[in-house]
Amino acid sequence: RPRALSGAQPTADSYHLGNYFGAFRQWVALQDEFEAFYFIPDLHAITVDYDPALLRERTYIAAAQMLASGVDPARSALFVQSHVPEHAQLAWILNGITGFGEAGRMTQFKDKSAKNGSDNASVGLFTYPILMAADILIYQADKVPVGEDQRQHVELTRNLAQRFNHRFGPTFTVPEAHIVKATAKIYDLQDPTSKMSGSNASHAGVVDLTDTPKQVAKKVRSAVTDSGTEIVYDLAAKPGIANLLSIYSALTGREIAEIVAEYEGQQYGHLKVALGDLLAEFVGTFGDRTRELLDDRAELDRILAAGAERAREVAAPTLELVYERSGFVRPV
Ligand code: TYM
Repeated sequence: RPRALSGAQPTADSYHLGNYFGAFRQWVALQDEFEAFYFIPDLHAITVDYDPALLRERTYIAAAQMLASGVDPARSALFVQSHVPEHAQLAWILNGITGFGEAGRMTQFKDKSAKNGSDNASVGLFTYPILMAADILIYQADKVPVGEDQRQHVELTRNLAQRFNHRFGPTFTVPEAHIVKATAKIYDLQDPTSKMSGSNASHAGVVDLTDTPKQVAKKVRSAVTDSGTEIVYDLAAKPGIANLLSIYSALTGREIAEIVAEYEGQQYGHLKVALGDLLAEFVGTFGDRTRELLDDRAELDRILAAGAERAREVAAPTLELVYERSGFVRPV
């Protein structure tokens, strides 16, 4: 079976609706057709200021929310990145074939480092995409299900794989991003031209998967929309309504055209109340499931240990091959 691989950073107290629709839904959809590897990139999470106790708690929350999303540990390896040391080991090798300018062109690095003044950004933030390339290549992954904002990182990964193969002989599978257009970029409900993000200053427009049904219904009812009245899908002219329609469609599995037809002649408010109710029900169920999972840490530990064991079975031989191709003397 071809392989799928993806990860989502444990840098907030909860994942949000963008992570869920842009990533987790696609992870789950690929589980049957692909041998899947899904993980919590804790090593990536320390490239910005963080608190160790929070990181530990967020790692468990991350695992619980991935499971609550439908990641099935019987079919997919679910694990913590730092449990598989081969990621960091391969990243070091890839550092050597990555150009300084090439890494400097990564837009996520430019955005994140600009936030606090680039002199304050860590070297880890700069090499972050190279560790991500290692995450992907160490499993010889074919498909990488991600949202639109990760496209450039997967492109860098492809370039590094091709470069290594060219210099040292065929070693890595060149992976492809798997980006589902309809949900590749979910927007902030308060600012429907910027993406929903856990690091947005206000969470008024961010639906967290730990929000209560009441909070969610309120966030959706107060979503920013334009001053018009007609409910149509027009990303340029009506980004707020377009975003609500995308979420509605993703949540119900119904076509946007069908939803638009249903709301013909109705006001924005009708759509917001209906979607608010649907999402409230969704987070209610999701929250219950997450809390149940978090109540049994020993079980989470077992799932993550089994996942790491499966992951290492694939990662270790890849690293061995890389060391050999790279000219390292191996211990006897
Ligand atoms: P991260 O942790 O920021 O986000 C996790 C996943 O959620 C997607 N996503 C979104 N999709 C749609 N709309 C949004 N508003 C939205 N916000 C986030 C992201 O595209 C991503 O798929 N570098 C990665 C984590 C990572 C990784 C990897 C991913 C580390 N190693 C290897 C894939 C493969 C990141 O920061 O994603």
